[in-house]
Amino acid sequence: MSTQVYLNGQFVPYEKALVHVEDRGYVYADGVYEVIRLYAGQPFELEAHLERLERSSAGIRLNIPAKDELTAAAWETIRRNNIDEGTLYIQVTRGVAPRRHQFPEQVAPVIYMLARTITPPSAALMHEGVSVITVPDIRWHHCNIKAIALLANVLAKQQAADANAYEAIFVRPGVGAAGGEGTADGTVTEGSSTNVFAVVDGQLYTHPEGPYILSGITRQVVLRLAAQERITLREEPVLVSQLAKVTEIFITSTTNEVMPVTKLDGCPVGNGRPGPITLQLAAAFTANRGAS
Ligand code: PDD
Repeated sequence: MSTQVYLNGQFVPYEKALVHVEDRGYVYADGVYEVIRLYAGQPFELEAHLERLERSSAGIRLNIPAKDELTAAAWETIRRNNIDEGTLYIQVTRGVAPRRHQFPEQVAPVIYMLARTITPPSAALMHEGVSVITVPDIRWHHCNIKAIALLANVLAKQQAADANAYEAIFVRPGVGAAGGEGTADGTVTEGSSTNVFAVVDGQLYTHPEGPYILSGITRQVVLRLAAQERITLREEPVLVSQLAKVTEIFITSTTNEVMPVTKLDGCPVGNGRPGPITLQLAAAFTANRGAS
């Protein structure tokens, strides 16, 4: 059976899941989205993802259907497509209207959901770790909104691919540890589609929530797991000047889970092997996933 896509309350075959050229998502990237992991057909942290979708929608002043309705549609999309290991993508745009920047009046949002099977990152990658490059964070100051406007992220990821690296890590210039503008030293914010954690002087750091990062659902799970594992975690940014003494790095996301980073800008991170804190949290994540 072909893939069934949820589109505005209906299920339509993949080939017929089409939207108008004047959809504001297409014209202005005026929309928000979520990517949810499915383990054994069960959505992981669905509630948290839908809550973030609500926050993102509020952030762009877009009214979306109630969480109950979205939850039912999400489960039905998963069920109809009989997905086991996969992802559920949800996108909401501000609808179809003649091109004019200000919000159209009385136009319903366009919502679609697509469940698909994915191949998770290989055990070899998880075991060996991946390489990353740093790139300037040229994004706007609302990175907490999971907006479909991802051009800066796409360009960064392609820059990484061109350098044979797995991910690009953003460095925001002029935002120091205090989070204030105008500080000389830049800070590591997040990856192009991941959050970043690093160990400096034996302490685990990740950038605090706020306008400069997406509050990753995997990040939240890792914060909980770190507390359970009695690993001290400081929600403080790592400065570029500290990168030379970082001994461990890992990235987190819905599809990457806890992924060790063993090379940064061509140099080994620590001893070039996934570090002990990374491995402890990766194991804790594997033990926990699917349990929610
Ligand atoms: N990316 N930061 C950015 C910029 C992201 O796009 C993502 C997710 C994350 C991690 O968030 P989470 O743990 O909730 O997946 C952090 C998704 C998976 C994507 O665009 O494919």
